Formats: sequence, structure tokens, C-alpha cells
Amino acid sequence: MHFKERLFCGQIKPGDEGRTILLAGWVDAFRDHGGLLFIHLRDRSGIMQIVFNPEIASKGVCDLAATLRAEYCIAVRGEVRKREAGTENPNIETGTIELMVKELTILSESDALPFTVSEKAMVSGAQSLGAEKVNEDLRLQYRYLDIRRSSVRDNIIARHRIFKCVREFLDSRGFLEIETPVLTMSTPEGARDYLVPSRVHQGNFYALPQSPQLFKQLLMIGGMERYYQLARCFRDEDLRPNRQPEFTQLDMEASFIDEEFIYEMVEELTVRIFAEGGISLLRPFPRITHKEAMETTGSDKPDLRFGLLFKDVTELFQDTNYTIFRQIMQRGGCIKGINIKGQSDKLSKNVLQNEYAKEIAPSFGAKGMTWMRAEGGKLESNIVQYFSDKELEGLKQRFDVKDGDVLIMVADPSYSVVVSALGQLRLHLAERLGMIPEDSFYPVWVTDFPLFEATEDGGVTSSHHPFTAPDREDFDPENIDELLALHSRAYDLVVNGEELGGGSIRINDRNLQRKIFKALGLTEEDTAQKFGFFLRAFDFGAPPHGGLALGMDRAVSMILRTQSIREVIAFPKNRSAACPLTGAPSMVKRGQLADLGLLNLEAKERLPGAEKQDNLLDRVSWVSRINIKEEERPMIQAVLAQAKGLAGIASKNAGTEEPAYTVVPLSNRMRPGASAERSELSQAGRLLANAPSVKGTFFKVAPILE
Ligand code: AMO
Repeated sequence: MHFKERLFCGQIKPGDEGRTILLAGWVDAFRDHGGLLFIHLRDRSGIMQIVFNPEIASKGVCDLAATLRAEYCIAVRGEVRKREAGTENPNIETGTIELMVKELTILSESDALPFTVSEKAMVSGAQSLGAEKVNEDLRLQYRYLDIRRSSVRDNIIARHRIFKCVREFLDSRGFLEIETPVLTMSTPEGARDYLVPSRVHQGNFYALPQSPQLFKQLLMIGGMERYYQLARCFRDEDLRPNRQPEFTQLDMEASFIDEEFIYEMVEELTVRIFAEGGISLLRPFPRITHKEAMETTGSDKPDLRFGLLFKDVTELFQDTNYTIFRQIMQRGGCIKGINIKGQSDKLSKNVLQNEYAKEIAPSFGAKGMTWMRAEGGKLESNIVQYFSDKELEGLKQRFDVKDGDVLIMVADPSYSVVVSALGQLRLHLAERLGMIPEDSFYPVWVTDFPLFEATEDGGVTSSHHPFTAPDREDFDPENIDELLALHSRAYDLVVNGEELGGGSIRINDRNLQRKIFKALGLTEEDTAQKFGFFLRAFDFGAPPHGGLALGMDRAVSMILRTQSIREVIAFPKNRSAACPLTGAPSMVKRGQLADLGLLNLEAKERLPGAEKQDNLLDRVSWVSRINIKEEERPMIQAVLAQAKGLAGIASKNAGTEEPAYTVVPLSNRMRPGASAERSELSQAGRLLANAPSVKGTFFKVAPILE
């Protein structure tokens, strides 16, 4: 057989009847009709039914066909024929035709499968099987089989199309695709780095990029003007369903531009890639400031597919007699609420009080939740009697209350507790009440972020990254209040409550960049050591520039409406950042570590903090790496004293200070009497059978316990 002649199953169409063709692929499914054998032959393009009929194929071919099993890789030659009326299969695209096989070659056999690959039923009327519910780790272990399944394959093909669309669009706008290094210096994006030890420069490490941020800015300084890259990024952070330790960004940067350039370009790009999934988005995308998003949805990633926006009712309760609200007002707190319109039949008193007020709201961090239902022109609840008529009337007007509405309110001395708890309640209620329209997509730009966030030690940290331009430059880098009041020229693209992308207009003035580093508490030395090379570039005519990165795994997953971003990545890591297929991450041989100079690192250099062990508490804090805070010391001191007391009791054996039991022969025993016995399990070598590491009869503990 000459593969040159080979056609794809998906290429064969009605009208090809009578053609003799060569197909190659995998046995997807088969049906034996006593003599007649029907097989679904699958290749990347689709499925074609092939038929082994003893009247057409030789006995040798039919006998060979009888040995075929699922996922055998085969090639067949035969004639295309129209299917008999009534035997068409609407489950596959070539369902009105079939191939009458004359020649068969088995190219490769397959073992029994760990899970079913086939997803297409062979006969009309039967339901297509759809993606089988298989344990995800098993799917990932045999990902090459999983990828053969049409649903997974289609995702990967669609991802390719989306990437192609991105490349074509950006090329048409004058962007150049440029690669930046993967073995590089740390890039500050807020996660931990993945480090790669250098063999040549022992004791030194590369970091895998958390993003190409520094390099894309250097490309702008290098005069490239418009850059993009479908860049692999690496972040060692807590995993969530929409996060992977390595993921792909569409990273972009342009010079001599402002925010409007980015909005226009990214909106047009987003419209085009969503169109690949049959989704039409309307432009221009709405914009909302960070403050407004927090005030009305409690989230910097607002889901605006449904209403339930917050209203502030603090001023209605300035003189309230309701004790809880009064105390909160006295402590400078606030009260916000939502009107859930016309849902009182689904939110009974019982549900509101016993589920939401007692369980759900506290689980979101609120100390409580106030609810009211509107009936017969009045507001009703378990506490309505504590409010004045004026307050109740104020609520009715503020929320435009009609019968059947339900109000929920959260009050707290802390603004962030109110908006965070109410924001989570908003999402919970929308989900529960089925208020989120299906298959709807609501993009929004979130703008005017605070430039800095406060840190626990009284300093500030960048909300995005330190290269983001502030809204004004005349600030004092040592005045924390002033720093916290600054806004940034950053923007996030949020769709359906998920952050798809983020970026900013950058600082291009070296003095301003130095001022920002100073505000972040970095000394001249720190700055020079970490970013010296970067800052130096700003000494040579840096153009104004800005950019954005779109999380492509998230975008593709949303466009294809998959449950998780793992479904659109060919070889993703599982929920615990491991790869069940390759077994990565894995142990390496000591020799490899020695080559890299990674053995006995600790012996050469004591770990930070090792010297600060003046007393037991400091030692415990250091050994366990729990960083005991000043206010925790008395409590932990007491617990330690208690533990020491208990240990003392346990170690006392009939008035002696010796251990009561021993698994190894004791030497230097002080106590007279019978010799100590080793336990039978120890003698038989079973006691330490599960120990990760053993030396003689000792269980070796991890070095961190020292
Ligand atoms: P940022 O950190 O916001 O910006 O990242 C941009 C987008 O990347 C996606 N993303 C992720 N996707 C999957 N798994 C992850 N662990 C993960 N982390 C982030 C998100 C996010 O919006 N250098 C800046 C961009 C810029 O300023 O131009 C940056 O990396 O969709």
C-alpha cells in the first residue's frame, strides 16, 4: 500500500460512490453481523464505516478482519458505496456512505484498553456515547489514548484554529512574533519561581519565566514596536481549577500607544477568537472601575451576566435602634444589600434564616446576614420589629421593592468583609436560583486599579507588577497613605467573572521606575541586584509603551465551554501539579544532583534563621518553619510547657528517667535488671518496612527535623 494515495475519512463525501480509495486509521468500534463485519474506521478527520463482506473481500482478508480489535491501527482499500436505505447513521458525518473493503493491512495491534476510546454509536437511533466518565488521572496517564477520543481531539484542533486566528490577526496589525528566553531571571508576577540549577555555574539558578514581562519591555526599548508571543509561563502557586503550573499566554506589547489602542485591538481580537466557538460578542466592551466593581459586586472580576448588584444602605441606619446595626455604625462600618426580585417563593423564611443567615453567610466570612421578604406591601422578617417605619420605607425606596422581592443585607465594621461576603452570596444565589443565562458571555474591562496594596508589615506591594504606570507621578514614595491612594493605568479583561487577561501602560521614565522600587521598600542595592540590567535599558531612550497578556488556556476553555482548562491542554498537569503520564516531578539520581552541585547545600550554607535560636520557642519556630508571631508567643509557650510536661510523664518508667520501650538494644543502660528486648517486628525487619530511609535499625528522618 502506498500512503501517498491515502485519503482522510472526513474527505469522503456522498458523490464519491464508485471510487476506489485508501484509508488509514484506528478501529473505533465494530459490529459483527454473522459473516458481515462492520467497522468504524477513525482518523483525525472523522469516521468512515468500512464493511468486510465475504462476497467482495477474499477469505484471507475476512479472516484477518475477524482478528481486529478496538484501536488496532489499520489501512484498507476498497470501493465507496451508498448505504442501503434505512441503515444511514446520523451520528457520523459520512453516515450515508461506507467503504466495501478489498484489502486490509494491520499496521499495529493494540492491547486491551484502560478505558473506551470510541464516542460515536454505530447505528442510527443509538445515542452517541459521549465522553466517558473516566477517572481524570487515568485519562492523563494514557493521554495519547484520551486524545484519540473525538471530544478531546476536537478541543485540541479548535485550540489550533484559535491560535491560528490570533497569529493572523496580529500579523495583520503589524505585530511580530518573537520568542523570549525560558531559562532566565525571575520575573515578578506574584507567584513562586520554578528554578533550574546551573551545572556550569554551580550554586546558581535560572528561573523559568512567570511571564515574558521584562523581555517584552526590553523589546520595546529595542525598537521592535509591536510584539506578541504565544508564551509558555511557569508559576509555582496554589492550584485552582483555572490554573496550571505551566500555561500559555498570548503576550503582547506595543510602543507609542495608550489604553485606547489596547482596548480596540484586544476587543477586536477577542471578538474574533470567540467567533471561532460560534460566540458573538458586542463591541465596545463595557468598562467599570475597580472601585465600582467592588461597590456593586464585591469582586474585581465582576460577573455581569445577571443583576443582583449591591446597593449601599449605610446612611439609612445612621440613627437606628437596631443594636447590631448601631454598634457596627459606631465602629465606622457599612451596610450593603441586594434585592432578589420576585424570588420569595424560592426563598422561604426557613431557607433564608436557617441556611443563608446561619450557615452560608458565615461560611463566606460574614458574622450574620439580615433578610426581609416583601409581602402585601410590607417588609417581613424575624427582626423587622426593630426597625423604624422610616428605615423600612427607606429600604423599600432604595431597593425599589415590590411584593415577592427578597432583600438580603450584610453589615460589618469592615468594608472588605461586607463586599466579600455579599459578593459570594450574590454568586451563590444567582447559581441556586438559575439566574445565570446559559451560553451568554459578558466581557468587561476593569480599570483604575489601586497601584499598591498594603502588606502586613506596614509597607506596600504592587497590585499588578512594579512596571505598571501610576495615574500620577508627584507622590512621596515614603508616604504609605499617599501610595495606597494611587491608581494605576492597569486594565483587566474579565468575561463571566473570570479574568481572561491583564496588562497596563508601563513606566518609561527611569526616575519614576526607581521611585516605584523605593516605594516597594527595595533599597538601591536590591534594585540594582534584581533589576539593574532592566533599569539600565531605561537610560537609553525608552519609548512610551504598554501591553496585555491573555490567558489562552482560560480563553480557549471558555470558548469551547469545557469544564476545566485541562480539557484544552494536550498534556496538562493534574490537580496536584503532577503529570500522571510521565511521572513528573520525579526523584533524580544522586549523581545528577552532585553534577549540579546540589548535594550538601545545607552543610555549606546554614539556612536563614538558623542562628536565631536563643530559646526553645525560637528553635521550634525555626525547625518547623512556622514563623511564630509576637502575639502568638505566650499561647505557644504555654502549649509547649504542657507538651514538655506530658513528655516528662511518658518518659518516666517506674521512677527512672529512661524510655519505657525500645526497639533497638540499649547501650549504656543505667537501670539494672533484665536486658532490653527488641520487638519481634523490629527483629524481623518489618517495623521499618515502610520507612522512606533506614540506617541500620534506625528510621532516618527528613533533614528539616534535624
Ligand atoms: P497576569 O499575571 O495577569 O499578567 O497574567 C495574564 C493572564 O494569564 C492567565 N493566567 C493563568 N492561566 C492559567 N494558569 C495560571 N496559573 C495563570 N496565571 C495567569 C490569566 C491572566 O489574566 N505580565 C503580565 C501581563 C502584562 O502586564 O502585560 C501578566 O502576566 O488569564
